[in-house]
Amino acid sequence: MKFFVDTADTDQIAELHALGMVDGVTTNPSLILKSGRDIVEVTREIAGMVAGPVSAEVVALEASEMIAEGHKLAEIAPNIAVKVPLTWDGLKACKALSEAGHMVNVTLCFSANQALLAAKAGATFISPFIGRLDDMNIDGMELIADIRRIYDNYGFETQILAASIRTVNHAHQSAMIGADVMTAPPAVIRAMISHPLTDKGLETFLADWAKTGQKIL
Ligand code: E4P
Repeated sequence: MKFFVDTADTDQIAELHALGMVDGVTTNPSLILKSGRDIVEVTREIAGMVAGPVSAEVVALEASEMIAEGHKLAEIAPNIAVKVPLTWDGLKACKALSEAGHMVNVTLCFSANQALLAAKAGATFISPFIGRLDDMNIDGMELIADIRRIYDNYGFETQILAASIRTVNHAHQSAMIGADVMTAPPAVIRAMISHPLTDKGLETFLADWAKTGQKIL
């Protein structure tokens, strides 16, 4: 499973990248706002830090404008994936940008039928939003499972990018279902290491080691 980091915070990306935990990065307009930085400048910096795909999102609503924005974003670096919303205009832009050789991430996916349309439009990635469905008491994991089954039924190559991951359980379940990629905030990736028995076990081992009076170095 590939790990993308869902942030435009370059310090956080650098820290996780040093641990080998960053296969790519996703951003969106809200994350650019949070970074307080210029979209082109921060996206260029991120794309220079990681070898894998860096998603940068268009903000136009009409297809030809989305395509123009997509081309401009793709010029930032060769590893940019242009992010377009799951609308008919977005799918039109997806098809045009994919045919022009760009990676496209179709975002704001909330149904299996939407994911099917995105695959047919040539999406490189489909981003089903788990957490936002859970917010509405709809099981986001069922959506990931449905898309996995549909894509496997027909051999679609579009990669399932589990998004809006808010908890370590979302990460675990996405991996169990077979999402190709997950994008998670740095805090969720960090929380994946926590287990009370690891802490307790380490504490016991260190206490017993101290009693031996030995040193390794
Ligand atoms: C994905 O690409 C989105 O940026 C992100 O996962 C949305 O997450 P949120 O619903 O927690 O804002």
